[in-house]
Amino acid sequence: MKRAVIYYSLTGNTMKTAELVAERCGADLIRIDMVKPMPEGFKKQIMYGGMLATFGKKPEITGIPDNITAYDDIILGTPVWASTFAPALRTLFTKKDIGDKVSAVFTLSGSGDNTKCLKKLSKFCPNIKNSVSLSDENNGKPQDNKGLLEDFIKKISY
Ligand SMILES: Cc1cc2nc3c(=O)[nH]c(=O)nc-3n(C[C@H](O)[C@H](O)[C@H](O)COP(=O)(O)O)c2cc1C
Repeated sequence: MKRAVIYYSLTGNTMKTAELVAERCGADLIRIDMVKPMPEGFKKQIMYGGMLATFGKKPEITGIPDNITAYDDIILGTPVWASTFAPALRTLFTKKDIGDKVSAVFTLSGSGDNTKCLKKLSKFCPNIKNSVSLSDENNGKPQDNKGLLEDFIKKISY
């Protein structure tokens, strides 16, 4: 069974989790990025990224390995942008027929709420069996990322 963690990350939160999940699950790690860099500064990022996400834009992406369709099982990692998943992953799903192989998802967000994001994602990935909603470490909320992540890893380990 060939397994990959595929993720997008702008500020590194999803990346850190992706690295950990890939290591613990013995999966390959694949980072998808946007060709056009995001603007500098939080406000500009929220405006531009929020626009891409809200309007379902499909920005040009980089980082897709030639063998991406050879994976049997995909764990997907995304930050929540405007209550949905990262635009770069929307592009990926329209370019490569891999949505059916996504069995697990982890999200990073300011709020710790991924309900709408998962709902939107499930249109591209109808076979998600496990998911976890992690929040930014510095948001002051008592959400236990570590415990949630451990439970998630336990569920997806085989
Ligand atoms: C463009 C943009 C839109 C965002 N929209 C949301 C949102 O709708 N809800 C939320 O809880 N957090 C939102 N965030 C915060 C990110 O989801 C959060 O900081 C996440 O940890 C970033 O992950 P990363 O470091 O892997 O990029 C947004 C951040 C950006 C840059």
